[in-house]
Amino acid sequence: MGAPPPGPPARLATAPRPAPAPGPGAGHAGRDTRRVMAEHTHDTPPPPERPHPPGAAPAPAQGTPFDGSLTQAAALNQAFWDERVPLHLASDLYDVDGFRVSLDSLRPFEPVEVGDVTGRRLAHLQCHIGVDTLSWAARGAAVTGLDFSAAAIDAARALAADVALPARFVVADVYDAPDVLGRGGFDIVYTGFGALVWLADLTRWAAAAAALLAPGGALYLAEFHPITQILDEDDGQRIVGDYFAGVPRRWHTTGSYADPHAPTSDNVTVQRDHTLGEVITAVAGTGLRIQFVHERPVTLFARSANLRRGEGGLYRAPDGAPRPPLTYTLRAVKPAAADRDTPLRSAP
Ligand SMILES: C[S@@+](CC[C@H](N)C(=O)[O-])C[C@H]1O[C@@H](n2cnc3c(N)ncnc32)[C@H](O)[C@@H]1O
Repeated sequence: MGAPPPGPPARLATAPRPAPAPGPGAGHAGRDTRRVMAEHTHDTPPPPERPHPPGAAPAPAQGTPFDGSLTQAAALNQAFWDERVPLHLASDLYDVDGFRVSLDSLRPFEPVEVGDVTGRRLAHLQCHIGVDTLSWAARGAAVTGLDFSAAAIDAARALAADVALPARFVVADVYDAPDVLGRGGFDIVYTGFGALVWLADLTRWAAAAAALLAPGGALYLAEFHPITQILDEDDGQRIVGDYFAGVPRRWHTTGSYADPHAPTSDNVTVQRDHTLGEVITAVAGTGLRIQFVHERPVTLFARSANLRRGEGGLYRAPDGAPRPPLTYTLRAVKPAAADRDTPLRSAP
């Protein structure tokens, strides 16, 4: 091998909307976050920073292993997300004002793959400030958004009232969704970009999603491809991280992907990367039938410097460049009882 890689990749644990194409040198938040780290006054050294996506400088490490409980992880993550809500409401990235006009924040392929949602009961897990949830409501779904951040749910409720769309928003941990929302009452369970990395236990997550579905209902997942977490951030062609790290890790991240320079105090998170195989296996293990897994060479932001914004506001490698998968979608259906032994039909 030649020289060692310049550093671990830019990480995106969160879910930005397509942003304006950054200019050269835009968004170099890493230097500032390292300075904040140096000023950090913990008894033990703070965990490594999780750098911000577009144009972020390399991070020093892939986080540090976290051996606390799920409850401790949830408390850290919840505080982190509560504090980010006002930043996201005010951000260009989420463009809430634009949403008030368009009533649509979904990526072009999502409504196509989910199909007509008119009159369908849709649960959006980890709905954050409800922009995507309300986009489904605008398409005619009867939506319920769930998130463990009370601040996010307050914001979602306020936005729903503002745009006069009917929606129910519930504060709960995703693992408790069936107890809180009821079992078997939804036609669609939707989970959007930047959700799974916050969950240490994918088996429990998949079981919760499956339990929400009525027979014949479908889980639809749209996520960042896990390989992107280990690619370099210059041209996204080199593997510079451990795809199989496989444990929850602590990160220190100041600001937000929507506003990297915002002063924040709840900066420690616990995140767990999941391989694509782990995701598929967790869903298949519930008895849901996987209809498709579509990997895509497009993503929502310039996660490496070579990506260019194009059709649908999505980012892709320039023509002729090698293309790793950047995002994926998965759809899996809950068989009706009479259907359980019929063979899987091919994906649409
Ligand atoms: C990146 S955001 C998801 C963005 C989302 N795709 C959207 O529509 O904007 C991640 C969300 O997951 C939520 N979250 C993280 N862990 C959770 C958990 N265990 N239960 C419920 N919500 C959780 C956070 O509060 C945050 O709102």
